[in-house]
Amino acid sequence: MKQLSRRQFLTGLAATPIVVLAGCGDGENERSRASTLRQLPIPPIAESTVDANGTRHFHLVAAAGAAELISGTTTATWGYNGSILGPTLRARRDETVAFTVENSLPEPTTVHWHGMHVPARFDGGPHQTIDPGEKWEPTWTIDQPSATLWYHPHPHGSSEKHVYRGLAGVFIIDDDVSDSLELPGDYGVDDVPLIIQDRRFEEDGSLDESDSTNIGLLGDTIVTNGVAGAFLPVVTESIRLRILNGSSGRLYNLGFDDYREFQLVATDGGLLREPISLSRIQISPGERVEMIVRIDSGTDSILRSFPIDNHDNVDWESTDTFGFADTFDILELRGRQQLKASSELPTVLSVLPKLDSGSAAATREFELQWFMINGQRMDMNRIHFTSIVDTTEVWTVTNVDNWPHNFHVHDAQFQIVDINGTPPPPELDGWKDTVYTPPGQQLRLALRFSRYTDPTAPYMYHCHMLMHEDQGMMGQFVVVEPGAQAAQTISSSADISDMESMPNFEGIHH
Ligand code: C2O
Ligand code: CU
Ligand code: CU
Repeated sequence: MKQLSRRQFLTGLAATPIVVLAGCGDGENERSRASTLRQLPIPPIAESTVDANGTRHFHLVAAAGAAELISGTTTATWGYNGSILGPTLRARRDETVAFTVENSLPEPTTVHWHGMHVPARFDGGPHQTIDPGEKWEPTWTIDQPSATLWYHPHPHGSSEKHVYRGLAGVFIIDDDVSDSLELPGDYGVDDVPLIIQDRRFEEDGSLDESDSTNIGLLGDTIVTNGVAGAFLPVVTESIRLRILNGSSGRLYNLGFDDYREFQLVATDGGLLREPISLSRIQISPGERVEMIVRIDSGTDSILRSFPIDNHDNVDWESTDTFGFADTFDILELRGRQQLKASSELPTVLSVLPKLDSGSAAATREFELQWFMINGQRMDMNRIHFTSIVDTTEVWTVTNVDNWPHNFHVHDAQFQIVDINGTPPPPELDGWKDTVYTPPGQQLRLALRFSRYTDPTAPYMYHCHMLMHEDQGMMGQFVVVEPGAQAAQTISSSADISDMESMPNFEGIHH
């Protein structure tokens, strides 16, 4: 039997929009699953109750289940309040939210609020472990602009597995600015979250969790909102897609098959200054973009991921290994015969004050290289530096590897000052919490930590390619009041007694 290479297989997939194939050709065992497209599932808006004090309460339960990622096949999965993914959390700026998070999984997990400005002890990083059968009750007041954030597990060393098994959800923040704009906003109708992930499957339909290439789990099947091969009926002239790259390690270069332009309106931390016309947008793991796209009546449009453009210094082996040459169909948008009129897009979306990178209170360097940042791997007991609340810092992040990495910071949204000395393109000029750091490139980020200080509970910064993160491409910092120092003991519910190294604080004080 002729054995298809992975590349041939993927090319075949891209050319066959109506039929979805999954499962790689594998000599004797070669087979494929075929099915017609299924309607895109929309994660439900999470139920919540508001108490007498105005606090909005949510309840999340992480548990094992089974889902039909591939039509006709049952796959064992993990999910929040369901078999896979989680409900869409939604709250307003200035609202106080409170969560009860229960862990019904067979192992410890955490829930991290990616992109959220949140007290460190409620951040849900590797120190806020929830043991099986236990619960965790974080609470904070939302204090940041409208945005599409997300939530996912962050347990020390096993984030990739937990996310890959299905634990991830969207967290939408609304505010007066987003209310005042005439953007498509009918959730699930013309305002649709799109969680894009890649998966590999075993013959029996279970998730293939083997890492044959040793670069992280890279799938050959795209799963959007929990199903492979999805279509979305579109009933309005314009539709807003809130896109999350929830993959372990795969980058996507998104656009439409006919090169139509879409309007980019938001990135990780919220609205851009004005809509940007693009025909392609690249997102790395953890990043979000919001696009508005016009659909023609009675016409199908295919949202597709094209080969990654920005691979200048990635060696050829790696571009192949990291899937940079792949093409995938993500979603088929089916325009109805009669489309409801959509409003014209506003020309101004938001006011984005520029952080003053010239007057930075601290500058820091981060060198990314194969499982390390600045030559060190993650140590749960080590705080790398101390930031002073309400001061602006400039971080220089350099990927000295010939491998792709990205960079994510907890608690604050940052602004990109420059990339290799050049101001960022408009799509990277808004609030960001995660950014692609191509090999050989140097990015300067301006950030400012506000409101929450805690000398005992750290925030993380790390590569968001989850296997790299799990392997230790992560560091920790605390935010304190001026004059304060990091505590000698990290407050943690995680079991760090088996870590051999002693606490090693390298606080930087100004
Ligand atoms: Cu989305 Cu530290 O993670
Ligand atoms: Cu995060
Ligand atoms: Cu990395």
